Amino acid sequence: QWSTAASLICMTLLINIHDFQDYGPYLNSVNGLFEDRGKHTYWKLEVRKPDGSIVVPDVGIGCYIPGKDEEIILNYSKY
Ligand SMILES: *[C@@H]1O[C@H](CO)[C@@H](O)[C@H](O)[C@H]1NC(C)=O
Repeated sequence: QWSTAASLICMTLLINIHDFQDYGPYLNSVNGLFEDRGKHTYWKLEVRKPDGSIVVPDVGIGCYIPGKDEEIILNYSKY
């Protein structure tokens, strides 16, 4: 049952990426919610390590290769 739910989430996750030369593909929308420079919002890519610590990778989502038991977090944040 869990795998059914997981694939449902994957199918409905619609992301939009923008390719920057020096950073690689960069996430700028998820399910129609775009980053907004006027409102200072953006999608922050975070990785939760198996030990529970959270790091922000220094590459874009298209270039990040997750390790075993890592979770990718798409955190809609303000700056
Ligand atoms: C998302 O980002 C905010 C702002 O940087 C931070 O306070 C919060 O802990 C983050 N949430 C998660 C689940 O990492």
